[in-house]
Amino acid sequence: MGETLLVVGLQWGDEGKGQIIDALADRFDIIVRFQGGANAGHTVYIGQEKFVLHLIPSGILRAGKLCVIGNGVAVDPECLLEEIDTLQKRGLSVDGRLVVSDRAHVVMPYHKMLDQLHDAALRTRKIGTTGRGIGPCYADKAARNGLRIVEMMQPDALKRRLKALLEVKNKELTLVYGAQPLDVGELYKLCCGYAERLRPFVCDTLPLLQKALKEGKSILLEGAQGAMLDIEFGTYPYVTSSNVSTGGASVGTGMPPNRIDRVLGVVKAYCSRVGEGPFPTEQDNETGRTLRERGREYGSTTGRPRRCGWLDGVALRHAVSVNGADSIVVTGMTVLSALPKLKICVAYKVDGNRLENFPADPEVLSKAVPVYEEFEGWQSDVSGARTLEDLPRAAQDYLRAVEHICGAHVEMAAVGPEREQMVRHAHV
Ligand code: IMP
Repeated sequence: MGETLLVVGLQWGDEGKGQIIDALADRFDIIVRFQGGANAGHTVYIGQEKFVLHLIPSGILRAGKLCVIGNGVAVDPECLLEEIDTLQKRGLSVDGRLVVSDRAHVVMPYHKMLDQLHDAALRTRKIGTTGRGIGPCYADKAARNGLRIVEMMQPDALKRRLKALLEVKNKELTLVYGAQPLDVGELYKLCCGYAERLRPFVCDTLPLLQKALKEGKSILLEGAQGAMLDIEFGTYPYVTSSNVSTGGASVGTGMPPNRIDRVLGVVKAYCSRVGEGPFPTEQDNETGRTLRERGREYGSTTGRPRRCGWLDGVALRHAVSVNGADSIVVTGMTVLSALPKLKICVAYKVDGNRLENFPADPEVLSKAVPVYEEFEGWQSDVSGARTLEDLPRAAQDYLRAVEHICGAHVEMAAVGPEREQMVRHAHV
């Protein structure tokens, strides 16, 4: 019987999930994305070659794997087609290896416009979104004003649907934001072009996945973003608009929760965050700059510099528990090699009270003063380590502390960006 493994980020995204998915993908038959959209940027290094994937599951870089874009993904057809073309140009054919759910919602050009206009209009309260139309697309889905791939495939129905949708969207664009309206004829032509090119990839992915489960195929579910950006459990409203956490994997694929065998969380050895929102362990100082430069902490989707800071054990405990992470993989160990002393936040102090649980209120969070435990740095090159015992004692102690603080077993650690730069533990 094949395993179904769910890989989720346990921080604010950018934990290095791309590398982990790529490293694990060779032992799975099918790799599935279940939420988010082109706001994600999963980076994979294969030798000297760098690949950044926004919508297509990272498993596409492994020969012979079937990759599924599930019903919960917000699909930007322009971005998807560009990604397909880029991969083909680099000699990686997606034909017969990529399927897109007909139930997935389409990110329309007006979603991207409204995302950017809305965030700019929020001024000091802006979220700092990626501008990829994610929020407006999911909002339309919830409000039952969305357009699904299945509807984009039917020219007559599409024409009627676009006319009705644009009537409202153009009012919003022009009257609320003073922007130019979109032309229904042009949008129709654009969508027909997308539909034509995407048609070979589109299918009902539910029976496909159900059949795969029945046949005992192994399935890897690839999470995007991170649990602290989850719309339910993250730092609301400074979150993305999808269910990033474990529950989202069922909703976004149609695979029942009891068919997910194991949850592996990805945790960076320090924290980063891109966009606005509370970040108690942020280091807006030399330490933060060192982490940013050594960790190449610049958004792979937007190029924005990421805010960096110490590992937040309170947020991590929260993420481990709401995701039911059975174990974790720690990335970014080589980045910490630069620092003589390391810190992990184990609790917050708010108005003199010690807080062990992650608070819902952003006001409380903005007042939270981290209580740190200090650790010796290892200040040596760990990129050649392949087993836990190869790591310097200080690095082993750090991983043990992470394990103790968050309550999940560390089963692997990444010691560089490449496929094989992985310190392995048992079971993987
Ligand atoms: P949106 O998902 O574009 O609406 O952005 C909402 C928030 O999530 C912003 O703070 C973004 O910077 C953040 N975000 C969205 N996707 C990612 C990601 O893949 N990595 C890191 N941050 C992300």
